[in-house]
Amino acid sequence: AQAHLPSEGPKIIAHRGLCRRAPENTLAAFELAYRTGVQWLETDVDLLKDGTPILLHDATLDRTTNTSGPVSARTSQDLPAIDAGSWFSPAFAGEPLPTLASLIDFLNRTGMNCNVELKSGKESDAVPEAMIAATLPQLARLNPGIEIIVSSFNPDLLAQFHEAAPEYTIAALFKPRHLAKDWIGVAHGCGATYIHPKDHLRLPSLLPIARREGFRVGVWTVNKKARARELLGLGVESIITNKADKFLPLAVE
Ligand code: G3P
Ligand code: MG
Repeated sequence: AQAHLPSEGPKIIAHRGLCRRAPENTLAAFELAYRTGVQWLETDVDLLKDGTPILLHDATLDRTTNTSGPVSARTSQDLPAIDAGSWFSPAFAGEPLPTLASLIDFLNRTGMNCNVELKSGKESDAVPEAMIAATLPQLARLNPGIEIIVSSFNPDLLAQFHEAAPEYTIAALFKPRHLAKDWIGVAHGCGATYIHPKDHLRLPSLLPIARREGFRVGVWTVNKKARARELLGLGVESIITNKADKFLPLAVE
């Protein structure tokens, strides 16, 4: 049976939380999204050296914390000293680098839904086997009814994830250059329900093909309201945006 299956209908997804008003991928950014009425989050998962899944976009701590170096060189013992908020604003000083476990607790408390993007391959030192072993026990703690989309740019990871836990809904992430190749075979090959292409000029011409192949579609990162409205009108289901608070009314138009 499908677990945490996303319901149909337009979704406005807060990319890395409400990342224009709070530091990306922190509980503060998720909390702000929740308080403004957003129902969906997107976040990035990477692994510490000890296998602990944490939420971080980059492979290093340089841009979004008070420290530096590869995240794969750190262990959970380092977490208390990491400040993931000061770089954004002094108002967020001391904001923790969140674990996936703390996100699951947050989702269970708020009932929010989440697109969990697993980093692996070029963008992270995490190998698929370790990422899957680390994330499945956390996802298993989610309350029934919370909707989850598991996405990645790494089709090998997605295929392995799908084989290990076919009950979860998969989204295959694509950059425009991937779409010049056999993206249909890639997406079917990893058991994807969704394709999540990056927004680009020729995207609308992709939509009939996606529909024919039976894929639901989410697009990132759409920060212009007219474009978001256009894509929703063309049948795109999810808009992954840095402006989720501003775009919420689009989901009910
Ligand atoms: O999941 C959509 C988007 O987040 C993918 O790109 O680099 O922002 O994680 P990135
Ligand atoms: Mg992401």
